[in-house]
Amino acid sequence: MTADLFDTVADLPAREAIAEGAVILRGFARPLEPELIPALREIVAQAPFRRMFTPGGYQMSVAMTNCGTVGWVTDRSGYRYDGIDPESGKPWPAMPPVLVRLAREAAAEGGFDDFAPDACLVNRYEPGARLSLHQDKDETDFAAPIVSVSLGLPAIFLFGGPKRSDKPVRHRLTHGDVAVWGGPSRLFFHGVAPLADGEHALFGRQRINLTFRKTR
Ligand code: SIN
Ligand code: FE2
Repeated sequence: MTADLFDTVADLPAREAIAEGAVILRGFARPLEPELIPALREIVAQAPFRRMFTPGGYQMSVAMTNCGTVGWVTDRSGYRYDGIDPESGKPWPAMPPVLVRLAREAAAEGGFDDFAPDACLVNRYEPGARLSLHQDKDETDFAAPIVSVSLGLPAIFLFGGPKRSDKPVRHRLTHGDVAVWGGPSRLFFHGVAPLADGEHALFGRQRINLTFRKTR
């Protein structure tokens, strides 16, 4: 898969370095669109989106599900990776090969070879949904990068630094963009601004984000 195809689609560069070890690959997921959509539909049929609760008792505005050998969950007892979907009592759906391939190729393009994710968090943002600044630090292996795929409505991705107080830079992510961060920026704070309303030709009034991680 080459990103050059998209150089002429947008006036943004196909590859945008946003920090040391962090890059946005514009439109990188688009060639896989015909396979991605049915794969996502299958995951959501087995493990429907749900709005989880934070340990502090707040219900998240982003609805989530997972695929992979483990999935990220939060409830009153804390955050964790769990092999079992607490809603169904069954294992999470397996990670479809097309998702594994997308994550692996994007990571390699971002400079991280041999990425082997075991978890894919699927986030659904409806208008107004947001994700406050946080670090991805529930994993045990920080050598592997984070690969984050945006589909559907555009969002403003906030990418900060190693400290919560570092002022985040706002990056607009649109359908098919993939952000990869690892190495020196693996633990950088990031989040998503409240989603603006709109209508996407394939995804309707929502944004779907896939976050791939190697948890152990
Ligand atoms: C996340 O940090 O888990 C999701 C980021 C995004 O939705 O772009
Ligand atoms: Fe995150």
